[in-house]
Amino acid sequence: MPKDTLTITDNRTGKTYEVPVENGCIRTNALRQIKVADDDFGLMGYDPAFLNTANCKSAITFIDGDKGILEYRGYPIEQLAEKSSYLEVAYLLLNGELPTPKELDNFVHLVTHHTYVHENVKSFMDGFRYDAHPMSVLGSTVAALSSFYPEAKYTKDEQSRRIQITRLIAKMPTIAAFSYRHLMGLPYIYPDNDLSYVANFLAMVKRVGTATYKVHPVLERALDVLFILHADHEQNCSTTSVRTVGSSEVDPYSAVTAGIGALYGPLHGGANEAVLRMLREIGHISKVPDFIKSVKSGEGEKKLMGFGHRVYKSYDPRAKVIKRVADEVFDVTGKNPLLELAVELERIALQDDYFVKRKLYPNVDFYSGLIYEAMGFQAEMFPVLFAIPRTVGWCAQWEEMVLDSEQKIARPRQIYTGQKRRDYVAMDKRAAK
Ligand code: CMC
Repeated sequence: MPKDTLTITDNRTGKTYEVPVENGCIRTNALRQIKVADDDFGLMGYDPAFLNTANCKSAITFIDGDKGILEYRGYPIEQLAEKSSYLEVAYLLLNGELPTPKELDNFVHLVTHHTYVHENVKSFMDGFRYDAHPMSVLGSTVAALSSFYPEAKYTKDEQSRRIQITRLIAKMPTIAAFSYRHLMGLPYIYPDNDLSYVANFLAMVKRVGTATYKVHPVLERALDVLFILHADHEQNCSTTSVRTVGSSEVDPYSAVTAGIGALYGPLHGGANEAVLRMLREIGHISKVPDFIKSVKSGEGEKKLMGFGHRVYKSYDPRAKVIKRVADEVFDVTGKNPLLELAVELERIALQDDYFVKRKLYPNVDFYSGLIYEAMGFQAEMFPVLFAIPRTVGWCAQWEEMVLDSEQKIARPRQIYTGQKRRDYVAMDKRAAK
């Protein structure tokens, strides 16, 4: 008779245990009963980098990495990218359902009217070096927001949570644009409440010498679609960081700062910047085979940036949408000269045994940088352009964690491999190594 349990025999003791299987998982805590002696701590799971450990139950985003499926609250990413807007998707991620027209109007109004930052934020940002990376500036400034909103620490209070989430979504483009203007040595431009979320951001970034910078509608829509594609991606490195830091019941600004830090890394959201630098380094289509060769040989620990994914073992569905968006953008901006190189790199890699065997396909970061560059962004801004839309994913996942009665402060175990207990050695008794 089949049963939803797992029977484990401990060959050290000959004892047998039965542990429940639920949602294709066993609770690793159920292994603690497996002991060789009464004073034994009990069996643990060892899973560096969480390769096979679920950290939470979540109803927000579904990914099937083998089939290349991504859904937000059950809606396929392709449909949302085609039919929806970023703020509508943000509402969906936060609330579980698509908004009615009235709900969307209210949400857009709320976000639009929280875009300003306290004037002190500007002087705070002025303190950064002239060439500060905008991702460092963004992270530090978001961390500083918790000092402007001390009531954010009441994480059990729904009203407080919701207002902080609104502020984070609303202020992120403002701080991102300010971080860019700081890098470029340009004056900060205040938000314009008459513009859409994306057009306002682009205006704050681009406006120079004219009060009426006109955002091209194709570029506005393209960035909105890119924002939709980046809005959430279940338990990735940055979201896990937000959940981990948030589990200490700290305010959401501090938790989201952790997410920004994680996203900055070249293996995560910093990959888009790294892809562009890699393409520039390759320089010419004729150098592609040599570059692929050097990646395969592991020379200098080189990687094909923008390729591979922990979860997707087929084409990243976001990368497919991005390729279409790229064509629309290049029709307006002219082709990015690095595109040809990227297409050739993809073509060769997808035929190469090394990449085929390891199921390495282009991910979301492979083509996004080319679009951002064509839109006139410096490479340093690329991870920031990832962080703006991911903010809603972080917030939705943070709130889900706060409301999950099974969650506790995150605190993994370790396997201690250090010295056994020993006595302190006086300075004059220590031998030189
Ligand atoms: N180029 C060359 N080899 C690779 C690459 C790559 N981009 N990615 C993975 N591999 C190899 C890796 O060396 C390993 O080979 P072997 O089995 O011989 O040791 C095998 O493929 C499996 O890789 P892994 O490192 O065990 O995979 P992971 O799940 O730990 O890492 C990853 C996933 C995304 C960090 C990795 O694929 C990578 O570093 N890619 C390049 C950086 C990148 O594009 N990151 C963006 C990820 S998508 C957006 C986001 O999340 O921000």
